[in-house]
Amino acid sequence: MTTNKRVLTGITTSGTPHIGNLVGAVLPAIQSSSEPGISSFFFLADYHSLIKHQDAALTHDSSFEIAAFWLACGLDPNKVCFYRQSDVPQITELAWILSCMTAKGLLNRAHAYKAAVAVNEEQQVNDPDKGVTMGLFNYPILMSADILMFNADEVPVGQDQKQHLEMTRDIANRFNHHYGEIFTLPEAKIGEDTGVLPGIDGRKMSKSYDNTIPVFCEFNKLKKLVRKIKTNSLEPGVPKDIGSCSIFNIYKAFASVEEVKEMKVLYQDGISWGAAKDRLLSVIERTVKPYRAVYAELVENRTDVENILKKGAQKAKDVADPILSKVRRAVGIKSF
Ligand code: TRP
Repeated sequence: MTTNKRVLTGITTSGTPHIGNLVGAVLPAIQSSSEPGISSFFFLADYHSLIKHQDAALTHDSSFEIAAFWLACGLDPNKVCFYRQSDVPQITELAWILSCMTAKGLLNRAHAYKAAVAVNEEQQVNDPDKGVTMGLFNYPILMSADILMFNADEVPVGQDQKQHLEMTRDIANRFNHHYGEIFTLPEAKIGEDTGVLPGIDGRKMSKSYDNTIPVFCEFNKLKKLVRKIKTNSLEPGVPKDIGSCSIFNIYKAFASVEEVKEMKVLYQDGISWGAAKDRLLSVIERTVKPYRAVYAELVENRTDVENILKKGAQKAKDVADPILSKVRRAVGIKSF
């Protein structure tokens, strides 16, 4: 008998999908979802977005953009479970139950919370918790509920989420120890370095640095952004280093093995930055062009996207319900 491995991951709906999300998360996830023995759960972490900002239009727009992004890139909603976190209230119900089992001290150690406190301390603010919402503080519990609600085996995430997975395991362990074995302990699957792209300013591409290249923009906008990528001031004809070069590092995520080899030689020969950027632009465009066309169609058919998500939520609930019932019974919440 082949055992089914449950793979689960989510994207917070607080920004516009960028090419780092594309090659680092979405394409590899879609790829793995078609492997035999894998059942995939991909979702829009829309309740997580409320932690990052209180801009209702941004949360709403971003939810649509990210949903359409997955679908445009080839996600088959019949093969995977694809849903919006907020359509599955079982998750937030579980988050409450887990929060009652989780030591506050565990959350005191969470990176995102500690970073907020460190900023306050640096600025010598009287209250170290200034500006910290309970949402930010409880973030790791909501994320644990996302994962444990489906007894996921494997969670592909970026390096920055590693601690959250460790906390999820801690929380699950504690629950299982006290109430009986209910939850699967999930494994983090940390993306390889190659999945992390530099942004146009050379730092990691991230919506929080405002240095991203969106997947779905007009060709001219794409061209402009590629032109803006920061380089050093070496002249044409002077050999250039590939390791530290943003253009090269983005290029290798989109180009074939042959093209990468060729580009390495061109760097040694001192390719001009303008010519390197042209090559980069053409490989990005080649990849995103077909997705852009499907995306444009989805923008015109928003109810199709809505219906796909509603169907996905039903599938997700069918998996979550029996697990949540077990949890409720285990903690003593049951009929007389
Ligand atoms: N916190 C994740 C991020 O910011 C998004 C996320 C929310 C997630 N819930 C999840 C990822 C559950 C994996 C599993 O990237």
